[in-house]
Amino acid sequence: MSIVIGLDIGTSGTKAIAMDDSGALLASALEEYPLHSPKPGWAQQDPADWERAAFAALARLATEVPIHEVKGIGLSGQMHGSVFLGANQEVLHPAILWCDQRTAEQCDAITGKVGEARLIEMVSNPALTGFTAPKILWLRDHEPAIYEKVRKVLLPKDYIRLRLTGEFATDVADASGTLLFDVKRRNWHGELMSLLGIDTDFMPPSFEGPEITGTLSAKAAGRTGLPAGIPVVAGAGDCAAGGIGTGVVRGGVLSMSLGTSGVVFAFADEVKTDPRGRVHTFCHAVPGKWHMMGVVLSAGGALQWFRDTLCDAECTVARNTGKDPYEYITAAAAQAPAGAEGLTFLPYLTGERTPHKDPFAKGAFIGLSLRHGKAHMARAVLEGVAFAMRDSLEIIRELGVPVHEARATGGGGRSPLWRKILADMGRVPMVTLNVDEGAAYGAAILAGVAGGLYGTVEEACDAIIHETGRERHDDITAKVYDAWFAEYQAAYQSLAPGFRRAAKLL
Ligand code: XUL
Repeated sequence: MSIVIGLDIGTSGTKAIAMDDSGALLASALEEYPLHSPKPGWAQQDPADWERAAFAALARLATEVPIHEVKGIGLSGQMHGSVFLGANQEVLHPAILWCDQRTAEQCDAITGKVGEARLIEMVSNPALTGFTAPKILWLRDHEPAIYEKVRKVLLPKDYIRLRLTGEFATDVADASGTLLFDVKRRNWHGELMSLLGIDTDFMPPSFEGPEITGTLSAKAAGRTGLPAGIPVVAGAGDCAAGGIGTGVVRGGVLSMSLGTSGVVFAFADEVKTDPRGRVHTFCHAVPGKWHMMGVVLSAGGALQWFRDTLCDAECTVARNTGKDPYEYITAAAAQAPAGAEGLTFLPYLTGERTPHKDPFAKGAFIGLSLRHGKAHMARAVLEGVAFAMRDSLEIIRELGVPVHEARATGGGGRSPLWRKILADMGRVPMVTLNVDEGAAYGAAILAGVAGGLYGTVEEACDAIIHETGRERHDDITAKVYDAWFAEYQAAYQSLAPGFRRAAKLL
């Protein structure tokens, strides 16, 4: 038997999984850590927490699988986060995360200096607050003494790679989200970095997803209980790794992931770029391929907010019955009709990335009347997130990317009601799969390809990922959603100037 390990440095925790060459899950371990928000709109983490969690998760796996059969470790992680390292590889500042919104000024400065059209031409994407380059400029503007000491800037999983192997490296998919990467040519964009005054030595060498970037060091082996010398592959940012883990490796297939954020992830054979930068164009972890992506910053996060803020009763019943509060919340939502009788929810609780590029956007319930109760509100939350996903889906279709099926993934993807809403909303079959281990599973597949367990990424996915169910759309409900989708879009447009004014007042 051959075993590969996937390690995903997520936002709420680090997950490690071990699978065999048939794709069967042998063991998994999850270690959680906090997210810190010292100011409104800020989101940061301590890389030491990731390190502790990653080593603890690997150490747990090492006690559960035959360690001498482990043929490789694949890495995945939350994208865009910045780990600033000094000359001795010491962490100089908390890592600023993908969902942090502090860099609006730096984004304006980048766009002002380069021009949006030229920027999109250079790196296939516009300047967005979540991306890495504006975080680097923020540190330069606000913490010049710390910036002086910076020698390397690493993405979250690449910091863990450094601790596991002693090597500086990244992968092309994760690098695509820095705004410093030439997505078309799959290499760092030296010209843009010079233009922005960012030292080209800051960024580590980049590799395709299944390439080996180093081996487990003796020190890391001692800390984990795994043998030294296990190859560690480049892996991918969590979106591309999740794409591999759901078999999105061919044209026509996309995935819809409902985690804290919601991701619409579509395979692309060639680079297609939205000239208005409303969706992302990144390298895929399938060598030589790309993907288009829409990101809804608060998806499962919006439902979690609803649960924590307004669903005490459901949480208490769930505690008493040993069930998940979301079961009660979605059961209530199922009682309300499609369109929630005119109640619309904007899920922009942490601003919005695609398509609005608006760090000031806010959440809203629109259309409340005496008729509406909690069931309507719960349904409106599920539908509002689905509307936000549809926004990106429509742009992806408009750019000529074929969409024949969507694979549901993430915690929210396990809800039959949410899947049905997405199918009706996007007029796309929602497919469920035999595996739902997300990005860690994709990272393990990439390690399996590097280790020779499979010939290619596509071959691996064909062999181990299978459809288990398919939810088709219903035409009448789809028409109801068409009408409310127009209202949803109009609601954001009319509220956006107020969100900006409110941000100034705050
Ligand atoms: C992708 C993104 C998020 C994080 C979350 O662009 O920002 O999905 O990767 O883990």
